[in-house]
Amino acid sequence: MLNALNKQVNAELYSSYLYLSMAAYFESINLKGFANWMKVQAQEELTHAMKFFDYINERGGRVRLEAIEKPPDEWDSPLDAFEAVYEHEQKVTNMINDLVNMAMEEKDHATYNMLQWFVAEQVEEEASADEIRQQLRLIGKDGRGILMIDRELGKRVFVPPQKGEI
Ligand code: FEO
Repeated sequence: MLNALNKQVNAELYSSYLYLSMAAYFESINLKGFANWMKVQAQEELTHAMKFFDYINERGGRVRLEAIEKPPDEWDSPLDAFEAVYEHEQKVTNMINDLVNMAMEEKDHATYNMLQWFVAEQVEEEASADEIRQQLRLIGKDGRGILMIDRELGKRVFVPPQKGEI
């Protein structure tokens, strides 16, 4: 279980790196709102990594950091990037589900309980990525539509987790 939790620290750090790379892509095409959304998302992923990091330590385990894979750095369009976000979040959901299955098999109730936060979080993560990708599908190549979404996404702010939440 410890090994698998350590791997998840790496996966969450990779998620952060992936979204930061997407932020750089959006900066490069001057969509500052999209870039803002991605930067906030990258910060959130760091808090996910820290949640696993702290939990492992709390249980007397040893965190061992591995190399973080290089993320892609080009996408064809905002829609292409958000299709990739959605797919990535589905992959993360599968990883969390695998961890839950392992905790159940090992009768590790504490880890099972900790993971429930992530089960709920993944529902939100998939839903928000899906909403934006659906909007982008609808507007197609309409520049005005993209700018409207850009304004919306520019409003997102990072809310640091409260004590006890992490
Ligand atoms: Fe850490 Fe986006 O799930």
